[in-house]
Amino acid sequence: MHSYDVFRQYERHQWRLTDLPLDQIDRDLVHPDHVAMARSAVMGEANSIAAQHGFLNEFVDDYDFSAFVAIWGYQELQHHYAFRAWLAALDVPVDTAPVDAMREPYAPGTTPAATLATNIVSELTVNHVYRALSDWVTEPVLRTIMRTASRDEAAHAREFIHFTRQRLAAHPDELPSVLETLHVYTSDARIKHPVSVFKSELPELLGHETIDTGFEFFLQQVAGDGELDRLQVKIRRAFGTLTGLDLGSGARIRRALADSLA
Ligand SMILES: [Fe+2]
Ligand SMILES: [Fe+2]
Repeated sequence: MHSYDVFRQYERHQWRLTDLPLDQIDRDLVHPDHVAMARSAVMGEANSIAAQHGFLNEFVDDYDFSAFVAIWGYQELQHHYAFRAWLAALDVPVDTAPVDAMREPYAPGTTPAATLATNIVSELTVNHVYRALSDWVTEPVLRTIMRTASRDEAAHAREFIHFTRQRLAAHPDELPSVLETLHVYTSDARIKHPVSVFKSELPELLGHETIDTGFEFFLQQVAGDGELDRLQVKIRRAFGTLTGLDLGSGARIRRALADSLA
């Protein structure tokens, strides 16, 4: 089983919350923007429970992927707790209501392959953003959390690519839904993430940081010229490798989508 290999590999690289040097946080280096980024990350990472619920419902016939979801969910929860721990060490409260509002499961995607593909996008996006933010953040403990989480997200993306490829091999009719997902998430000049697409309208989030707070700040204050392009190129390339199609631009994605429907 693939999930068994992943389990053993993750076990070798697993970091622990207790090893974070929270007593060494350098308060002089903490800027209010760092706090806003950590609160935004808490909200983004809070969604793994809803995602797990959705995955387990949608993949009742797939033990191997469901086992991976359990392993993956633990790491995402660890990210949520790591950002919370950093905030708690600085006596910054985390509101309960917005986190609780993240519990509701996601509705299934248009196809199971589209659901998996959506998660490739989200993992590659947070991998990229955490990595760039970790270079910008000056407080060393928060920097470590972002770097470590970024590495985990890259590993997650690899596995979602694996399971999407496997799903498409068994269900080639789901290819259009995968291309459509790529089109939806890479056709705008802004960062689109499933959490914001599906959950940004919740009343509990009014006036509170969300995952979009982090993305908007990232694009406006941290990202250099062409940063969004680089992220979208990365996402298109992953889907290109996955499908064996040329998906290097929006026009090519639309062409591939039209061909797949013909
Ligand atoms: Fe995460
Ligand atoms: Fe992840």
